[in-house]
Amino acid sequence: TERTLVLVKPDGVERGLIGAIIARIETKGYTVERLELLRATPEQLAAHYAEHEGKPFYPPLVEFMSEGPLVALVASGHGVIQGFRSLAGTTDPTTAAPGTIRGDLGRDWGLNVQKNLVHGSDSEESAAREIAIWFPEG
Ligand code: GTP
Ligand code: MG
Repeated sequence: TERTLVLVKPDGVERGLIGAIIARIETKGYTVERLELLRATPEQLAAHYAEHEGKPFYPPLVEFMSEGPLVALVASGHGVIQGFRSLAGTTDPTTAAPGTIRGDLGRDWGLNVQKNLVHGSDSEESAAREIAIWFPEG
C-alpha cells in the first residue's frame, strides 16, 4: 500500500493543531503507521529540503523548521500521496482553498509563507526518500 511522509510543522505544534490535522488524515480513511514528536536536526532538514537549497526562502525555512518540535508521521492508503497533498491545500495558506488544512487552519503571516502547518511528500520517490530521513530505523 502507498505511503507518504507528513510533517506537522512547528507552527502546527505550537498552535495545538496536531490533533486537528491528524483527525483529517484519519477521517479521510488513511492509516497512521508511524508517529513521532521530535526536534529536527540540521542534517535532517538539509536532506529533507535539499531540492530548495540556494532558493531565497531556504534559510528562513530551515530556521523556522528548527524553532520547535514537529510531528513526523507516515500515513498509508490507496492514493495517499496525492490525497494528502489535496487535503493540505496549496502552499500559501492565504490562497489555499477552504476545506483544506492550510485553507481552514492557516493564515497570512506576512513574509512567512513557510508557516503553512504541514508538509506532504509530492511523489513516490520523495516519500521513500523522506520516510528514510525521519524514520531511519526503518
Ligand atoms: P511542502 O509540502 O512543505 O513541501 O510544501 P509545498 O510542496 O506546497 O511547497 P514547496 O515544496 O514548493 O516548498 C517547501 C516549503 O517551503 C513550503 O511548504 C513552504 O513552507 C516554504 N516555501 C515555499 N515557497 C516559499 C516562498 O516563496 N516563501 C517562503 N517564505 N517560504 C516558501
Ligand atoms: Mg514540496
